[in-house]
Amino acid sequence: MNATPTLLLTGAAGLLGRTLHDPLRPLCAQLILSDLPAALQSAGLPSTAACDLSDAAATDTLLQGVDTVVHFGGIAMEGPFEPILQANIRGMFNLYEAARRAGTRRIVFASSNHITGCYPQGQRITPDDPVRPDSNYGVSKLFGEGLARMYFDRYGIESVCLRLGTCTLTPPDRRSLATWISPGDLVRLVCAAVTAPDVGFLIAYGVSANPQRWWECDAAWAKLGFAPQDSAEPWASEIEGICPAPEDPCARLQGGSFLGLGPFD
Ligand code: NAI
Repeated sequence: MNATPTLLLTGAAGLLGRTLHDPLRPLCAQLILSDLPAALQSAGLPSTAACDLSDAAATDTLLQGVDTVVHFGGIAMEGPFEPILQANIRGMFNLYEAARRAGTRRIVFASSNHITGCYPQGQRITPDDPVRPDSNYGVSKLFGEGLARMYFDRYGIESVCLRLGTCTLTPPDRRSLATWISPGDLVRLVCAAVTAPDVGFLIAYGVSANPQRWWECDAAWAKLGFAPQDSAEPWASEIEGICPAPEDPCARLQGGSFLGLGPFD
């Protein structure tokens, strides 16, 4: 299937970006792999589409002729505000502005569960519940979702915001019995977000079919034609004991270890 003429993957040298090259290739006529120059070099990828997304002019050039973006570039961790401002907030603004000018049709955005990380663990939530970000990082993703909403309403650029959970090869700790998304489910979810027709503006959690999961988004998944196939539960006996002390906010709130990071003054 070659539904998408030109597909741009940002963060292509990153942990998750690297797992997406092969699955995305059959979905488009041309796949452009972009990241910071040093990241492309250390991953052994060509530097032709190197771009720092905090550079507006470079981002404008990168988006020329791009139909669909899978946006995984940025800072993936909680930390001081300034670097997050540059990569995730300014970078996201530059990306949407460049997309508007280039006539880009759709952006699939690696958002995050840390947008709702201050909900208590165990509470079931949906994308319709009020946001409760747990970190500078979570707030930067919230800015991204706001931008995505505005660019659909005003300029018709479609966006699928994927609030990803814990994307690791296997679930690492007790929290991940709720939050884990397997590599296979991640690939299926991203591919569905690229190919589903008429998504408009959509927010979907990215999580496997874990019986202990906290997030519901059946309507969004149905719109994408996605259903998770894996589960963290087979690891339960191995990892149940891997958790902070019960009084620690990292054990009480959905954002887990991010609640233990900062402030940074
Ligand atoms: P990663 O850190 O391995 O990859 C991110 C890539 O973005 C890196 O290769 C980095 O060089 C690039 N990048 C950073 N600043 C940039 C800039 N200014 N311009 C262009 N590229 C820049 O992170 P990972 O784990 O692959 O995450 C990918 C995306 O998924 C991130 O947006 C992250 O926030 C999101 N995400 C990841 C989760 C996970 O479990 N790994 C969970 C939730 C969301």
